[in-house]
This record gives sequence, structure tokens and C-alpha cells, in this order.
Amino acid sequence: MNKKTVKDIDLKNKKVLVRCDFNVPMDENQNITDNTRIKAALPTIKYLLEQNCKVILCSHLGRPKGEVLPEFSLKPVAKELAKLLGKEVIMANDVIGEDACKKAENLKNGEVLLLENLRFHREETDNDPEFAKKLASFGEVFVNDAFGTAHRAHASTEGVTKYLPAVSGFLIEKELKFLGDAISNPERPFMAILGGRKVSDKIGVIESLLEKVDVLLIGGAMAYTFFKAMGYGVGNSICELDKLDLAKEIMQKAKEKNVKFMLPVDTKVGKEFDPNTESKVVKNSEIPDGWEGFDIGTETIKIYAEELKKAKTIIWNGPLGLSEFEQFAVGTNSIAKTLADLDVVKIIGGGDSAAAIEKAGLADKFTHISTGGGASLEFLEGKKLPGIEALQDK
Ligand code: ADP
Ligand code: 3PG
Ligand code: MG
Repeated sequence: MNKKTVKDIDLKNKKVLVRCDFNVPMDENQNITDNTRIKAALPTIKYLLEQNCKVILCSHLGRPKGEVLPEFSLKPVAKELAKLLGKEVIMANDVIGEDACKKAENLKNGEVLLLENLRFHREETDNDPEFAKKLASFGEVFVNDAFGTAHRAHASTEGVTKYLPAVSGFLIEKELKFLGDAISNPERPFMAILGGRKVSDKIGVIESLLEKVDVLLIGGAMAYTFFKAMGYGVGNSICELDKLDLAKEIMQKAKEKNVKFMLPVDTKVGKEFDPNTESKVVKNSEIPDGWEGFDIGTETIKIYAEELKKAKTIIWNGPLGLSEFEQFAVGTNSIAKTLADLDVVKIIGGGDSAAAIEKAGLADKFTHISTGGGASLEFLEGKKLPGIEALQDK
């Protein structure tokens, strides 16, 4: 990475403002249902504590759009973080208000303060310079470790870097290393599995990966747009009729680039959008009217597994079916299990894909699971991430 990290500057005894991505999923009672992003922030926080810093953390949670809404409070995160750190985390009742300022002023070296949800101020997402300046006044140095928010040019990711020396934390460093190495210098065969809902969501990634991979395996609802483009009926499956030409172009481009472009040969269809709906496996060209494709079929699972066993590097973005429903998570889970046993570089990017792998209990079998949803996609598309661009060069 050509950006400075916390290791490249002297942080001893400094006041450090740290941007984390604590945007974690919660249930209706504000219980955190997945603490992966909090755990991922620990190495940087611990390092700053070893350096005897005053650590002032900030993050967004959800999209409260400038309103102070209690259900979007970061208080549960402070509690969870304290538990994981084994150390008190002081919680501010506001972001840049009286309480935050007082608590920041009284903070001692080796202590941790968490500001309230940055998005309680619309100025955060507006990247307002005055707001950024006020945030910056909490620290002498800014550390960005919010990989998941690095694709946003907000006050706490981009604006603040105009007022403080800005470096990356260990999480951003790690994400860039794994995602970056995989796409720029992969051991071959290099294969990508792409699933998810829409071709239109993934067109940037598909185009960028077509330049790099040897094999592209398609699953998820986006497969039906390709089937339709090939002239097959797709029943009630999700299908983007305005993307048929694009689907044809992608298949043509794959041919020109000598990329093996694989589509499911069969698919599991259901009667209704319901976890317990009647389902059956049919050939990709034989989806009956009135049925909806929710997963890849048994034959496809076998073919994909055999192909993937030949890979040396695998990137996976997007579940291969409606993985929230057990009977349609079979494709995703089977392929996850196949990959789990392979001793190759295996990288997962994408919020729903990461959640599916976590749910299957296979997270520790992968080389790297990105904490970024949109951010990892934009990175794989080859876009520059403003939160990282703004950091000091080495
Ligand atoms: P990621 O967050 O990993 O990038 P996406 O957001 O693109 O993935 O897609 C995930 C969503 O796509 C999931 O909610 C999943 O249920 C849905 N999905 C995948 N395949 C299908 C399908 N065949 N029918 C309906 N939804 C699907
Ligand atoms: C995410 O969960 O992808 C990040 O935290 C960014 O959140 P946002 O899409 O609301 O900006
Ligand atoms: Mg998603």
C-alpha cells in the first residue's frame, strides 16, 4: 500500500481521532447480531492504547439522515467494544456537542472515548467543512480504519483529512492487501463467482473482472437475465428486461477475452416467495410459467465445484441463491463448503455474501472476508475510494 499507516508516524502519547465502521446489524431491541466489524477494529485500537494515546473513536450507524434517533445510538457498540477490549469505553451523548467536548477534554492517555452516531448530523454525509473541522479538533492525528465506509466522501472520512495528518489503520491496510493482491497479482487459474440480485448492481465488477479472471461463474438471480438473453423463459424469476443487450455483450466480451463464462445448467424454482414454498430443480431452459428461480440446481453445484477445484485464486461476491431461506441456501452453502476444503486464496467481498458465509459457520476457512459491502465492490470495480485517496502517501 502506498498510504501511510499508524506504523509510519509517531503516535506516542497523542490524541488520536479514529474513524471506524461500526455500522453493525442490530435486532429490534438494539442487540448487535454480528460483531465482526467491531472485532475487525480491535488491532488498531489496541495498538493506539499501547502507544499510550488518547483514543477518540467515531462511526456512523445506519442512515438516520441528520436526526437524533435513539434506535441509531452507538451505545450498544460502546458496550460490545468494552467487552471485547476488556476495558472501559466512555460513551459521549453527542457528536460534537458539549458532552463530547467535555469528555474529550477530560480523557486521559490510554483511555477510549466513542462519539455518538456521526449521521445524527446531516453535515457528516454533506461533507461539511465546518463539521469536519470541529471533528478534527478532537485529535492531533486522524486514523481512518473504516474500510466499509471508504467509498463515501463524508466529513469523517474525507473532509477531516484537510485539517489533520491522516493515516490508515490496520484494517484498511489488511483489506487493501488481500483484495489488492488478489486482483492485481493472482495465482492462476483465477476464478470469480458472482451472484446476487441484479446484473445492473454488478455490471462494474463483471466488466472489471472480465479483464482479469480465467473463469467467471454466475449464480443468483442475475443468472435469469442471462437465460432470458439466451431466449429461455424464466417464469416469475427476477429478470432485468432492460439489461438483455448488456447480458449479450458481457457473454460476447467473455468470448473475446477468452474467459470461460459459466452459467447454471439447472435451477431450483419455487412456487412463491416463502421459506416453505413448494420447490423443484429444473433445467435452465425449462423454468415453468408461474414458478420463480431461487437457487442454482444440483447439477450446477457439481459442475461449479469441479471447476473451482482447479483454481488457485477465488473471489466470490454475491450469494448464489435466496440464501436467507434455508431451502434456497443449498447452492451457496454447498459451494462455500467446497471452497472451505480448498487450500488456495479465497476471498469474499459483499455484505450479504459475508453474512451467508458467517451463517454457514465457515468464516475461518477463508483467506479473507472483507468488512466492506459497497466499498469492496467499488474496489473490485477498480474505482478509487475517497476515504483512502485522502490519506497521506508514504
Ligand atoms: P452482496 O451483498 O454479497 O454483494 P447482493 O446484495 O448483490 O450480494 O445480493 C444478495 C441478495 O440477492 C440476497 O438478499 C439474496 O437473497 C438475493 N438473491 C440471490 N439470488 C436470488 C434469487 N435467485 N432470487 C431472489 N433473490 C436472490
Ligand atoms: C456499509 O454498511 O456498507 C457501510 O457502513 C456504508 O454504509 P452506507 O451505505 O449507509 O454509507
Ligand atoms: Mg447486498
